[in-house]
Parts: sequence; structure tokens; C-alpha cells
Amino acid sequence: MAKLLAMQGVTVTLLTTALNAARFTAAIDRAIRSGLLIRVVELEFKGKEAGFPEGCENHNDAPGLNYRRQFFAAIDMLQEEAEKLLEEMKPKPSCIISDTFVTWTVDTADKFQIPRIVFDGMSCFTQMCKHNLHILNDQKQIPESGTFVIPDLPDRIEVTKTQLPAYFNPEGTVYVQDIRDRIRAAEKSAYGIVINSFEELEQRYVDKFRKLYDNRVWCIGPLSLCNNDDLDKVQRGNKALFDKENSIKKWLDSRQAESVVYACFGSLGHLTVVQFVELALGLEASGYPFILVIKTGEGQAAIEEWISKNGFEERTKERGLLIRGWSPQVVILSHLAVGGFLTHCGWNSTVEGISAGVPLITWPLFAEQFLNEKLLVQVLKIAAGVGKDKFEVQVSSNVVTEAIIKVMDKEKEGSKIRKRARELGEMAKRAVDGGGSSHLNVTLLIKEIQEFQLNQSAKNALV
Ligand SMILES: *[C@@H]1O[C@H](CO)[C@@H](O)[C@H](O)[C@H]1NC(C)=O
Ligand SMILES: *[C@@H]1O[C@H](CO)[C@@H](O)[C@H](O)[C@H]1NC(C)=O
Ligand SMILES: *[C@@H]1O[C@H](CO)[C@@H](O)[C@H](O)[C@H]1NC(C)=O
Repeated sequence: MAKLLAMQGVTVTLLTTALNAARFTAAIDRAIRSGLLIRVVELEFKGKEAGFPEGCENHNDAPGLNYRRQFFAAIDMLQEEAEKLLEEMKPKPSCIISDTFVTWTVDTADKFQIPRIVFDGMSCFTQMCKHNLHILNDQKQIPESGTFVIPDLPDRIEVTKTQLPAYFNPEGTVYVQDIRDRIRAAEKSAYGIVINSFEELEQRYVDKFRKLYDNRVWCIGPLSLCNNDDLDKVQRGNKALFDKENSIKKWLDSRQAESVVYACFGSLGHLTVVQFVELALGLEASGYPFILVIKTGEGQAAIEEWISKNGFEERTKERGLLIRGWSPQVVILSHLAVGGFLTHCGWNSTVEGISAGVPLITWPLFAEQFLNEKLLVQVLKIAAGVGKDKFEVQVSSNVVTEAIIKVMDKEKEGSKIRKRARELGEMAKRAVDGGGSSHLNVTLLIKEIQEFQLNQSAKNALV
């Protein structure tokens, strides 16, 4: 996003913490060398003070998902230092774009009298689902069991309570409803919102959502497409992964076009060993070559033990590649050999799959992932699901195999799904190109902020 803005001549300052900055400094340094006006300012992350595990500055890196409260406390502690920096900044910032979880920017934007734009990393489809679910929830109309239709949407979207984001379905998660309320209020009061999506992908939902926000909804994605050289795509994650990428590419080069299934559950998704076994066996039984990404670190020992005891890696080595740790996903997805993407349906992964024109096999885990699955399977028709209807449900290997075959099959439904996926991939690329809708929205966003500033100084002159 910083690059996209800077490419249109704007100066961008990124405020983040040291370990987070380390993930993208290589890419940003290259952008700076190419003449873009971007700078990175590091804030001190006081995780220890907040009780967040040491050495982690990111929720992904914490062992498990049970440190939400501590993580938010640590985020709140960034405010003081950030405001000091803003005060000294020259020229003065004209706008804050902040992640939806960084709620203190409400006060900061107030203090500095500048607009605050929110980024929450989700689609307009999810935004509209959430909006209508909030209304239903306030009326106590969300049924405890069974399916119901989310009202006032362009499509008939049926869900169960157990499929909903934690806000509507708080059982089983650490209770942080007060924080969720704060985030919701901060989103509502924002000047506008930027979305990592493109108009053509979900036009009817974009139109509806725009009405809620007084037109101030800018779809500027897919953001992953702004990395037009491979080095950026890889280094977005971690510099040390460069060699890893080359060997993966070599492996892919030796495969037929659209023959490989790529399976990855994202940076936050954890599978139990039981579920991992079904996934692995389902991939194997499909008969297709596959890449399977395995998380490293705490809680993964049982999975590694199964892999070696079962002989899975050895047995499948002719057509299976296991990647441990972070995976250069955007590079893999854009390789011609990849024919399907088995995903947890996090929005980043979803958009990355769509941009690559690859059909998806959906296995949602939590948050808004079940909603993303509805968009992919039911509305866009570019995916087949493994039929999970809530977090606890176990998926068996034969269902995994069936879903894979459904999208990979050269005949019947598979070819239609793949054709639609390819068309959407083309649309995504056109959206970010010059003259495309996302490119135009970046321009319009900048224009809006400039106009706001002009109005502001005119007002001040009057006073
Ligand atoms: C998703 O992508 C955005 C923008 O590219 C990035 O800032 C964010 O860290 C990513 N989220 C995860 C969970 O990887
Ligand atoms: C984004 O671009 C589309 C045209 O492709 C336009 O209709 C829409 O108004 C733009 N959004 C904003 C918020 O300006
Ligand atoms: C600037 O002021 C004009 C005239 O009052 C108004 O129409 C316009 O919407 C304002 N623009 C912004 C971005 O505040």
C-alpha cells in the first residue's frame, strides 16, 4: 500500500516496530532506491510490559491465539511515542491510514485534525455481512442452532451461528468483546476505509458498502499485485527465504501446467494433528502433485512425528513437496504448474489466489473465513469446499480428495470453475494497471485528502 501511494507522488511514512519492519525493509529499501518517497520509522514495542511473549511483536508469532488482550495492550502503548514523532514530522502528515486494530489513532487524528482512514484487511462482502449481522445481533435474532439467511444482501447467504466471526459467536475464544467493541466504534467513526479488493470482484457489495460510508470506500487491491518483481514477492516475508524460493521454483518447473495442488493454512491457522493427517492423506489420495506447507515452532512436534512415523514424506517424495515455515506463496501461486489452492480462506490468501487466477479448495478455520468461503463457492463459483460448517468439525481425507478432484478435474464442473477463476485473475490484473479501477481509486483517495486539506486551510483562514 505504501508503494502504491508513493508511486503517485505522495510521501509515505510507515510507523511500525523493529521486528515487523524487518519483514519488509528489503523491499522498501528497493522502493526507496527507485526514487519513491517512503520512510520507515520504528516504534518501541513494549510487549514484555504488556505480558506478551518476549521476542514476538506480531500476533502470528505468539504461541497460539490466547494473547489477544496482551497484544492489544502492547499496541496501545505505541500511542505516546507515535504522537511525539508526528509532532516533529515535516511536512506535517495530511492523513493517517491505520490498521483497524490500532484504535488509538482515533484520538491522534483528532489531535492533529487530519482524516483517519481504516484498513481492516477484509472484503466488502464480509463488511456487508458483518453490518447486517450486527443489526440482527442487536435484535437478538441470531438463532442458536440451524441455518439462517443473512438479511439485506444481494445474494442469499445461509450460515449457522458457529460459522460466524467471534464477535457473534464468542464461545470458545478468549473473551475480548470490549476490545472488539472499541474496534467497531473506531471503524464506524473513520473518515473512510481502504479495502484490499477490486470493484469488479464484488461490485454489488462494494456499492452497498459505499452507501454506508458516504462513498468513502476505496478498493485498491489486490495489494499483492504491486510486487511486480519476484524478489519483492519473496522478501515480503523474510529475506532468508531467497534460496528456498529458487528450489521451489525448480520443483514447479518440472511439473505439467495446472497439475499441482498448493495447500497452505496461512500465518495464523493451526491444524490439529488429527486434521493434518486427513489433509495429508487426502492430498496423497487425489493423485495430483502437491505442495504442502507445514508450520514450524511450538505445537508442531506431533505433526512432524506423524510425518516421519507414517513415512508420508518418503512415500510421496516423487510428487509431494513439503515446505516448512514461511512459504513464498505469491510466487508459487503465479507459477503455471499450480492448478489449485487449498486454503483456510483468510482474505489475504483468498485475494492472492484470485489474483493468480487459480481455483480454490476451501477449508475455513475461524474469524470471517467461513464468509469468504461463501463468497468463493457460492457467489464467485471459483471454489469447492470441504464442507466444514464450524471450527470443531473434523474433515475426513476422502472429502478433501473429492473437493480437490472437483476443481482439478479436466472435464465437467472443474473446467468451468477454472475458466471463471482465470477470468477473475485477468480482471484483478486489469484493476491495478493504469486506468483500472483500483489504480483509479488510489488516485481518487489522494485527491480527496488533498481537497480535504485545502478546505481545512480555507476554513482556518476564515477564522
Ligand atoms: C495481509 O496482507 C496485508 C497487506 O498486504 C499485510 O499488511 C498483512 O500483514 C497480511 N496479513 C497476514 C495475516 O499475513
Ligand atoms: C473507485 O473507482 C470507481 C471506478 O472504477 C469509481 O466508480 C468509484 O467511485 C471510485 N471510488 C471512490 C471512493 O472514489
Ligand atoms: C471541500 O469543500 C467543498 C465545498 O464546500 C465540498 O463540496 C467538498 O465536499 C469538500 N471536500 C472535502 C474532501 O472535504
